[in-house]
Amino acid sequence: MIETNDFDLENRIVAPEVIKADTTDDVDLNLRPKTLDEYIGQEKAKENLKIYIEAAKKRGDTLDHVLLYGPPGLGKTTLSGIIAHEMGVNFRVTSGPAIEKPGDLAALLTNLQEGDVLFIDEIHRLSRAIEEVLYPALEDYALDIIIGKGPSARSIRLDLNKFTLVGATTRAGQLTSPLRDRFGVIQRLELYSKDELCDIIMRSSVILGVACDKDGAYELASRSRGTPRIANRFLKRVRDYADVMGNGKVTKEIVKIALDRMEVDDLGLDGLDRRLLTMMIKGYNGGPVGLETLASAIGEEAVTIEDVCEPYLMQLGFISRTPRGRCATDLAYKHLGLLKDGQTTL
Ligand code: ADE
Repeated sequence: MIETNDFDLENRIVAPEVIKADTTDDVDLNLRPKTLDEYIGQEKAKENLKIYIEAAKKRGDTLDHVLLYGPPGLGKTTLSGIIAHEMGVNFRVTSGPAIEKPGDLAALLTNLQEGDVLFIDEIHRLSRAIEEVLYPALEDYALDIIIGKGPSARSIRLDLNKFTLVGATTRAGQLTSPLRDRFGVIQRLELYSKDELCDIIMRSSVILGVACDKDGAYELASRSRGTPRIANRFLKRVRDYADVMGNGKVTKEIVKIALDRMEVDDLGLDGLDRRLLTMMIKGYNGGPVGLETLASAIGEEAVTIEDVCEPYLMQLGFISRTPRGRCATDLAYKHLGLLKDGQTTL
């Protein structure tokens, strides 16, 4: 396998975040399930949400505010759209960084109709000033507007329609506790199993009109690092290889050829993951090594390592976190073909 060190993070093929290739594709929207029954995996979250939605509908009430957290690419936005669909209300989408001024949030809130779902992605990135506007909106469905300045300033309260906030974050720990406390439902999304990813790939291949056999889907699932967004992206790229190098069918052999060429190995690790593990092993004797030290050693942002590489490497059991830093496990040595004394196995 050819290794390169030039990472264009915006276009990293195993990036769990949305990359340019995803957003230029209208068909992506069609891949998103619209109902809970269509949504594959996340059984715990689905089971809980089903009950909360049914109960709210039975009472003729709005759904409590929901916080979804977990690694990127697992379907937080999709699940929020499903919540709105199942409740039979409008779905309004924004994100923490897009709300720059308290007035931006006030405009969004005053335009909501009764029961609407307001989805705020990356909610941990809301500024303090905006959070302050959100508190009375979440608790009392009201906006407190300050009119005037100085001693003559006064506050008036504007009633809002009742709504449901669905917040999504990759970093629940970065949420302030007053904000976290205002969510009635807090649900973690987990990385998907290979079987679940396989089902998602088969479903997507039908929607995209791509012929894909079970072994091909399973091989793709094995390399998609537990993340549907990556699985669907791979499927579209592998289809190109199948069209040019095969008979149009996505098979295990075609998946292997395509992903090897994309420098994604049989477990879904790309050059960045391998560079990280190799640095831990060769540069720091397998650890423990601190996150910031590791990040600067490989010239990457600590948040990228923490949010993007680590969840999957930890799920594989390649990295363990200790109070003194990160350690590479025996499994990581074995996968990279390295021995404890720094020698390479044959
Ligand atoms: N496409 C992306 N995520 C999905 C999921 N969880 N279920 C079905 N299709 C999907």
